[in-house]
Amino acid sequence: MQIEQIKNIWIIGASKGIGKALVSELDQAGRQLFISARDQQALTDVAAQIQCDCTAVQMDMTDDVSLENASLQIARMVPCLDMVIVNAGTCEYLDAASLDVELVRRVMETNFFAILKVIKQALPLLKNSQVFHADSTPQLVLMSSSITYQALPRAGAYGASKSALRFFAECLQADLQHQNVAVRVVSPGFVKTPLTDKNDFPMPFIMSASQAAKRIVKGLKSNRFDIHFPRRLTLILKAISLLPDGLRLKLIGRLSRQQKNPG
Ligand SMILES: NC(=O)c1ccc[n+]([C@@H]2O[C@H](COP(=O)([O-])OP(=O)(O)OC[C@H]3O[C@@H](n4cnc5c(N)ncnc54)[C@H](OP(=O)(O)O)[C@@H]3O)[C@@H](O)[C@H]2O)c1
Repeated sequence: MQIEQIKNIWIIGASKGIGKALVSELDQAGRQLFISARDQQALTDVAAQIQCDCTAVQMDMTDDVSLENASLQIARMVPCLDMVIVNAGTCEYLDAASLDVELVRRVMETNFFAILKVIKQALPLLKNSQVFHADSTPQLVLMSSSITYQALPRAGAYGASKSALRFFAECLQADLQHQNVAVRVVSPGFVKTPLTDKNDFPMPFIMSASQAAKRIVKGLKSNRFDIHFPRRLTLILKAISLLPDGLRLKLIGRLSRQQKNPG
C-alpha cells in the first residue's frame, strides 16, 4: 500500500514540534487524521489549519484511563487505522554527579513504558486495516533518535529510553512481519522544536521541524525500517560507534562537562 493510499492515521504528539509539522505534511484530501497530545487548545489550533478530516483526541499517554478513552474514541469513529505514528516524547539531561534516578524513571515512563501502552491500544486497530483493505500493510511508526547510534555525555536517561524503544521495535518487527504489520523507527538528528530550544550546547546540522517532517514522509514512502537523517550526522555517529572502545570512549569523553574531582 502506497503512503498516498493510507487513509486513517493516528499521530501521537501532534501539538507542536515535529508532530505538528508531520500533520501538515500528511494533510491530503480523503484522509482522516487523528491527532493526540495533552494540550487540547494546541491540538484544536493544529486541526483548524489543515484541509483534510482531522479530529483532535486529547490524551496524556502516561495516564492509562486517558489513553484508553482516546483509543475508544477513535475506535468509535473508524473501524481501523492504517498508520500510527508514536512521535510523543520528552528529553531531560542527567547529571552524572547526582544520578537522579527519578529523572531517569520519568523519561523512561514517557519515552518507553507509555509508548508500549500506546502500541497495545493501537495494534488491534492496525490489524483491522487488513480486514478492510485487502492489500494493506498497516504501519506502526515509532520515534527513536540518532542518539541510539552512539552514547553521548548527559544523555543517559534520554538515550536509554530511545535505545530501549529501538530494541523493542526490532523485536516487534520480527514478530509482526508474519502478520503483515510493518514496524518502523525514525531516528532524527537535531531538529529545532520546543524540545531542543532548551538545549544550551551546539547542535550540528540542526534542521527545521518542517524539513524533518518532509524527510520522515519521504522515508515512509520507502521500505526502510530505520528512517534516519540528516545522513551527514547519523553516518558520523554510526562510524564513531565502529571505532575501538578505547578510542571511541576517549573521543566522546572530550565532550563531557564533568570536571576532574578537585584534590
Ligand atoms: N527535536 C529533536 O532534535 C529530536 C531529535 C531526535 C528525536 N526526537 C524525538 O522526536 C519526538 C518529537 O520531538 P519534538 O522535538 O517535536 O518535541 P516537542 O516539541 O517537545 O513535542 C513533543 C510532543 O509530544 C507530546 N507529548 C509529550 N508528552 C506527552 C504525553 N505524556 N502524552 C501525550 N503527548 C505527549 C507533546 O504534546 P503536549 O505537551 O501537548 O502533550 C508534543 O506534541 C520526541 O519523541 C523526541 O524525543 C526529537
